Amino acid sequence: MESAEIARRFLRFFEERGHKIVPSASLIAEDPTLLLVNAGMVPFKPYFLGQRKPPASRLATAQKCVRTPDIEEVGKTTRHATFFQMLGNFSIGDYFKAEVIPFAWELLTRSESDGGFGFPEDRLWATVYHDDDEAYDLWRNRVGLPEERIQRRGLEDNYWHMGVAGPGGPCSEIYYDRGAEYGKEGGPVADEDRYLEVWNLVFMQYQLSQVRSKVDFDVDGELPSKNIDTGMGLERMATILQGVDNLYEIDTTYKILDRAAELTKTRYGRDHRADVSLRVVADHVRTGTMLVADGVLPGNEGRGYVLRRILRRTVRNLRLLGSGDDRYMHELTDVAINVMGEQYPELKADAPQIHGIIDAEEASFLGTLRTGTAIFDVAVEETKRRSATTLPGEQAFKLHDTYGFPIDLTLEMAAEHGLTVDEEGFRRLMKEQRQAAKADAAAKKTGNADISVFGQLLEASGKVEFLGYDQTEADTNVAGIIADGVPVPVAGAGSSVEVVLARTPFYAEGGGQLADQGVIRTSGAEVEVVDVQSPLAGLVVHRGKVRKGELRVGDEAQAEIDVERRRAISRSHSATHLVHRGFKNALGETAAQAGSENSPGRFRFDFTASGAVPQSVLRDVEDEVNAVLINDLQVNAFYTSQAEARAMGALAMFGEKYGDEVRVVEIGDYSRELCGGTHVHSSGQLGLVKVLGEQSVGAGVRRVEALVGIDAFRFLARESVLVAQLTEQLKARREELPERIDGIVTRLRTAEKELEKLRSAQVLQVAGDLAAQARDLHGVSVVTHRAPDGTGADDLRKLALDVRGRFPADRPAVIVIAGAPSDRPVVVAAVNEAGRERGLKAGQLVGVAAKALGGGGGGKDDVAQGGGTRPEATGDALRLVEQAVADQVSR
Ligand code: ALA
Repeated sequence: MESAEIARRFLRFFEERGHKIVPSASLIAEDPTLLLVNAGMVPFKPYFLGQRKPPASRLATAQKCVRTPDIEEVGKTTRHATFFQMLGNFSIGDYFKAEVIPFAWELLTRSESDGGFGFPEDRLWATVYHDDDEAYDLWRNRVGLPEERIQRRGLEDNYWHMGVAGPGGPCSEIYYDRGAEYGKEGGPVADEDRYLEVWNLVFMQYQLSQVRSKVDFDVDGELPSKNIDTGMGLERMATILQGVDNLYEIDTTYKILDRAAELTKTRYGRDHRADVSLRVVADHVRTGTMLVADGVLPGNEGRGYVLRRILRRTVRNLRLLGSGDDRYMHELTDVAINVMGEQYPELKADAPQIHGIIDAEEASFLGTLRTGTAIFDVAVEETKRRSATTLPGEQAFKLHDTYGFPIDLTLEMAAEHGLTVDEEGFRRLMKEQRQAAKADAAAKKTGNADISVFGQLLEASGKVEFLGYDQTEADTNVAGIIADGVPVPVAGAGSSVEVVLARTPFYAEGGGQLADQGVIRTSGAEVEVVDVQSPLAGLVVHRGKVRKGELRVGDEAQAEIDVERRRAISRSHSATHLVHRGFKNALGETAAQAGSENSPGRFRFDFTASGAVPQSVLRDVEDEVNAVLINDLQVNAFYTSQAEARAMGALAMFGEKYGDEVRVVEIGDYSRELCGGTHVHSSGQLGLVKVLGEQSVGAGVRRVEALVGIDAFRFLARESVLVAQLTEQLKARREELPERIDGIVTRLRTAEKELEKLRSAQVLQVAGDLAAQARDLHGVSVVTHRAPDGTGADDLRKLALDVRGRFPADRPAVIVIAGAPSDRPVVVAAVNEAGRERGLKAGQLVGVAAKALGGGGGGKDDVAQGGGTRPEATGDALRLVEQAVADQVSR
């Protein structure tokens, strides 16, 4: 049975039993306590907590999920995948244990021809929480499962929560016995490879305030209602129903695995290590594709880091399979898009953008591997020079931390050089770093309390109506006030507050558009609003300070935005749409928006592109956009369905494919985008758009910055003044300026080179004299010399080597030159081979001199360099070196 069919059957079964089918939410969790959606219930958390009203009391979904805590296990066991889809049926205060257990049993055991999954009854086992007699009784008496196939387990296995504060409760799990060839008898408590968990039924009834670990948490109390949350792993079901050994061999992954084997000329099933790598590739390519499709970009923090790690592990495993420097991600992503495209058609439409991002990350990591290899070689050389056989843990850590070198790569490359790695030291440093990161993340997380405060406010105010598309001020009511994180009925002058209004003209920061500012006035009070946010969909929170009077919940209020600021921001936002269209026209549809920020008079726009955008393209885009301004196109906004908007070719950011109704903003017929932001009425209002330049902001993402309106004009006016000053100074016409400056720079460079040559010649001129004046110490020629101050360190070195070269090969010679290139003294020593045979070592001699100079230095036996802090000691230093030579050669 194909994966898509498993999902269809599940949803149909529950739809027939009164459930509303809800499409999968984005992998990017709306919940600030989570980076990514990791269970089917995540989007419904506010319903369980009673913070929001569900669209129906019975729901069912096939939800995309990503979990990475067990990433190292992927490929090694049969049960770990980083991406999976969780099928779930949910009851929000509707049915409970007595209904959900028979539902699950019916769907699993009903024959395939009858719409079920056709599991033989005698292969199914159930577990219940140790004291849950009610669930036990339902399995035993309602379902008729024999006693020996119902097992009781503790918190570790039969209690479910989100890993963070939120809802939770005991659960009952259903297992499928794969047969004696997969492990030992004795049910799930004995062997979880043979007995595969297929469905988890959670009796969600408690609110947890603190979660320290799986088994250590505080229960705050009961949830407003008794709920059901279930999770059936689609991929695991497919493993069983498709009769394959593991998750990586099912229909939606084996094609990726096969293609990877083909590309790397490997055979699956021959060699354990290669098999593990192939499975990692199959799993990770799919996960990476799904994350990118939902709008995650590779980065060094948060979700971006999860994605980066997944993509890098993929490339790394391809290299283990022998890909070398060949790039296979494009083809593999292509397979992933095709296999997942049946369930998620948007993957196919967004394919060019997905490829753009993944290909760029692959290229950048291959670059990293090259740089890291050079660093690695140095580390190996150093280790060998110390006659050690273990690469220090710090080196491995540095390679990992700075160059993104996975430890297994370091281990393997070290082994090729006959070295081991201090893995313990490496892991200690990793642990230290992780702990630091954890502490940081914990500090950033918003606790459950904060969100529930917003939830309560949303309950109280209902969805806040946004009036700001056509109003800049409005009569409204104060629906709620938060001070110091808690709801308060009244706030006095001087307090910092978050205010919820029943209706508002204020735009909350979102979609790249900065928030409005302004004032809220009641009969007695005035609040200055400096920021506006929407912490939960439908809720708008105005942040600011009570300037005077007392603000009270329930007061009538007048809300008024700073109109100038809003207009300037709107101009930027409309300009961003035009520039987006302009880049697509110039570079093709792969130039997709990856982020933006619209502030007053200025905006930046990030988009995917494989390399730097040439100046000529920037100029063309700017030109095209300004032509649109002159044509003064009408700006229209309207609401339509997701499908309709796509059909019209409206541009959407990744992650904007959720929700039924969408708002489309069109500028004439030049640009059409999904957008919730505010805009000008016609393009002529922008006046002027000036693109300032572009730069890289990460693998495959470029950023342009631009000015709009009066800011663009002022910028050009300033440039014009600058050019006038230059023409004045250089006595040249404007159009001659580049050539003139070029000429000046070239002449300057030539002069500098000449000067350099002359100085070197001068320094070397004295070499002959110095060699002729060498002193003889027991048959060794010794030259000590102090070069004029300001002679560069390179010249000192050149001089020492030049003098040394003037002695015949069989004549032992020592040359020591001191100087002060800056205010710090430098000393260089050179010893020829005959001198070294007499036991003289340049490194040692420099050490002696440097010590006298108040510094340090050393190096090899033939040439060495050092320095210090006391130029006045140079004479002493040279005498001490001579003494050291005399001591050595008179022995
Ligand atoms: N929320 C439960 C789980 O993820 C069903 O296993």
